[in-house]
Amino acid sequence: MAAKKDFDRKDLKIPVSLGVIMDGNGRWAKKRLLPRSAGHRAGAENLKELCRNCGRYGVKYLTVYAFSTENWSRPEDEVNQLMKLFVEFFNKYDPELEEEGIRVRFTGDIDALPENLRKVCREGEERSLHRQKMQLIVAFNYGGRREIVQAAQKIASKVASGEIDPDDIDEQMLSDNMYLPDVPDPDLIIRPSGEMRISNFLLWECAYSELWVSDCLWPDFGYEELTRAFEAYTKRDRRFGGLSREDNK
Ligand code: FPP
Repeated sequence: MAAKKDFDRKDLKIPVSLGVIMDGNGRWAKKRLLPRSAGHRAGAENLKELCRNCGRYGVKYLTVYAFSTENWSRPEDEVNQLMKLFVEFFNKYDPELEEEGIRVRFTGDIDALPENLRKVCREGEERSLHRQKMQLIVAFNYGGRREIVQAAQKIASKVASGEIDPDDIDEQMLSDNMYLPDVPDPDLIIRPSGEMRISNFLLWECAYSELWVSDCLWPDFGYEELTRAFEAYTKRDRRFGGLSREDNK
């Protein structure tokens, strides 16, 4: 029987900014002798659940890894199905996101996408601008290294035009030139499916993120696993390079 959902647990520390690497759709489908596309479909369905659960728990920014700059190397058929699913997701679930007060934004090399996908991103962002409970940030055509390269290019062009001096470049300036500088760095990054890698996700932003890996495959990652992740996060002693709470006494 599914656990009763309690979004008001005072003993839990909830991350303000959460990142999720939605991994394991293919393995989920394989276990059921289904095509990979069925795994992605179940994964998209689960993303809707995650949004609802995170919003109700009080997460303010949820960044999900939906399609990386490297995912274009998958078979053409799988890429096409993922794009179709992406368009469908925002048509099908937007009323529910509206009901839950979830604003949608995109991070990644969106300008490099074909116009039909750029339009989905643009319209999704515009129609949800007023929603205030949580931001869902979809990393789409996203690569952490590409994000850093593009930030470096923006800064380099300011140096070339004489607007800034190379000595003015500091960490804050790099942060300010990432895709969404107003979104706080993730406090916690969750990776289902047991893989212990960051896979080019939020490379600049994850410097001090806590990591939590679950063996659960993404389509099965529900309220209970999310709660386990928050329980583990609650116990973490975040030091940001300093001393622990105990050592400071
Ligand atoms: C990784 O699993 C998952 C992806 C590359 C796609 C993630 C997409 C979704 C969850 C659904 C669509 C998203 C939106 C925004 C509608 P994998 O296929 O690499 O799994 P495997 O490692 O088990 O093969």
